[in-house]
Amino acid sequence: MNSRKPLTMHRLREMHAAGEKIAMLTCYDALFAHVLDEAGVDVLLVGDSLGMVLQGHPTTLPVTIDDMVYHAACVARGNRTAWVIADMPFGSYQESTESAIHNAVRLMQAGAQMVKLEGGGWTAPIAQRLVERGIPVCGHLGFTPQSVHALGGYRVQGREDTAADSLRRQAEELIVAGVGMLVVEMIPAALARELTKRLAVPVIGIGAGVGCSGQVLVLHDMLGVSVDRTPRFVRNFMAGNSSIAGAARQYVADVKANRFPDDEVHGF
Ligand code: KIV
Repeated sequence: MNSRKPLTMHRLREMHAAGEKIAMLTCYDALFAHVLDEAGVDVLLVGDSLGMVLQGHPTTLPVTIDDMVYHAACVARGNRTAWVIADMPFGSYQESTESAIHNAVRLMQAGAQMVKLEGGGWTAPIAQRLVERGIPVCGHLGFTPQSVHALGGYRVQGREDTAADSLRRQAEELIVAGVGMLVVEMIPAALARELTKRLAVPVIGIGAGVGCSGQVLVLHDMLGVSVDRTPRFVRNFMAGNSSIAGAARQYVADVKANRFPDDEVHGF
């Protein structure tokens, strides 16, 4: 059993301030939660990517709040010390602030310690209302999978000056709203590095270069298990490791030592 103390939002913020990298992976069940926690993963994200990797959907859009509550409860039961974030799925915060609060409460009661919302601008007032009610919130900017159709497919966001400015503005608004963490997905490495330096909260990257406060990958991608081609920024940590626990420990070590991602290999 590892000897670390349970991670807190305060501790994650200290790690960000000290430049100590944060290793985050998605997780959907109790056994993996136990293995990843023991391997030293700091944050377990009960991602709505479960719609694709567990349920076989082409996107995250069909995932329901009931699905997320079920998986958040499974992960919470298997975890001991990692910080647990649960995604608010598509449709669970778009309709009204009241339904967003209701659904976030369900995830927290299932064992999540923070909820994650995708998008900027319109999400800031919702994030603020959740934070005011004692629900820690993580933002998610850049490529936001729930908007895959609106964004025209899987593409890097924030490349042009106006798009980068809009991302900067959305990030500031989320900080003012009180979010305690921000995930940035598929944005240019220089922009991710700039946001990480500027913002007071941890900025966790996926396909956003090595300059973030930490990294997140979809668990199955990290283990090299996939039906389709994986994104370019993914690394298979099972290569050279004979166990899942070993791959997870390698992921943690490589994130902490800035060996993952490799901006040159991954083309940031
Ligand atoms: O659902 C998920 O797995 C995510 C990550 C891609 C950040 O949101």
